[in-house]
Amino acid sequence: MNTHVLLTPGPLTTSPQTKQAMLTDWGSWDTAFNQLTASVCSDIVQIVNGASTHVCVPLQGSGTFAVEATLGTLVPPTGKVLVPNNGAYCQRIARILRYLGRGVVLLDHRDVEPADPARIDAALSADSSITHVAQVHCETGTGILNPLQDIARVVRRHGRRLIVDAMSSLGAVPIDLSTTPIDAVIAASGKCLEGAPGMGFIVVRRDLIESSPGHSHSLALDLHDQWIYMQKSGQWRFTPPTHVVAALRVALDQFLAEGGTVARGARYRANCHTLTQGMRALGFQLLLPEATQSHIIVTFHAPQHPAYNFDALYRGVREKGFILYPGKLTQIDTFRVGCIGAIDAGVIKQAVTAIKQTMQELGIQP
Ligand SMILES: Cc1ncc(COP(=O)(O)O)c(C=O)c1O
Repeated sequence: MNTHVLLTPGPLTTSPQTKQAMLTDWGSWDTAFNQLTASVCSDIVQIVNGASTHVCVPLQGSGTFAVEATLGTLVPPTGKVLVPNNGAYCQRIARILRYLGRGVVLLDHRDVEPADPARIDAALSADSSITHVAQVHCETGTGILNPLQDIARVVRRHGRRLIVDAMSSLGAVPIDLSTTPIDAVIAASGKCLEGAPGMGFIVVRRDLIESSPGHSHSLALDLHDQWIYMQKSGQWRFTPPTHVVAALRVALDQFLAEGGTVARGARYRANCHTLTQGMRALGFQLLLPEATQSHIIVTFHAPQHPAYNFDALYRGVREKGFILYPGKLTQIDTFRVGCIGAIDAGVIKQAVTAIKQTMQELGIQP
């Protein structure tokens, strides 16, 4: 059924069962569909162990829609947000906040440097008008994993709110809301839960969402309104992404059967290990040191060879059945390979072989 294996951080390769789940049409008013939505939300809250404190609010659209909705709803118009910045998705948060007219303080780090809890501590001490911290968990622009637990403890000690973009980590890196003080966690259907892309979800403290009416600049992105409507009716406010919800239900069943976050994380780690070993053997260098490299996506330096360009590599590897991902750094020439999706280490091995063959075709010897 699949034409290409997606080695990208979402959309990603889904299983045949997940694809199959999209062959049914659902009515948005139908009780069975509403039960599907409720069960998906309930499972997602459980995955991050937040059932006693948090609720899950689903939202139509890609991950950025969910990030923008969360910031617009949870940060009041007078709010000011600290954004520890070590990559493209951190910068996107800052950009959204500027669009929304919220205060932003960027705490810049180098791309290869994890967000530093001590610097966040100092920034919060220095500016008592900062109300929130918005932290990307896995910065997918490079694949760096930020130390979420330590950051959460610092933010809580200062009595500020913490919003986490866990778009590319939820389901593959443990997040435990019962021990890690986080106000809202944002993720999406088409990432490590291995559903189809098309909806985001926000796991947010119940008291916080309930006390956030009237903040949002946008009707479509008003999470409070979405939550209240869903509570009252059991339905989505506007046309739901029915096939995406149905696929996510089946994807979650597979996620739970696999053994949840721990087992999925272990599979992705094995994928990542196979990838990095294989690519190193071909002479490729990783951008990040092992200690901060996540098992989600890996950034490689582009080969310093006159015959190399990413498009040629991409085309050659695509012909062999695999889709690579371009780099997202402005200063350094890189490309990325994702480790996530319904794939295992055997598939990654084949992908490395495809990269090797393409490099040989391009006249670039390891
Ligand atoms: C960490 C992170 N945040 C936000 C997004 C934005 O999601 P989308 O491209 O689905 O809007 C992504 C997408 O990969 C991501 O990895």
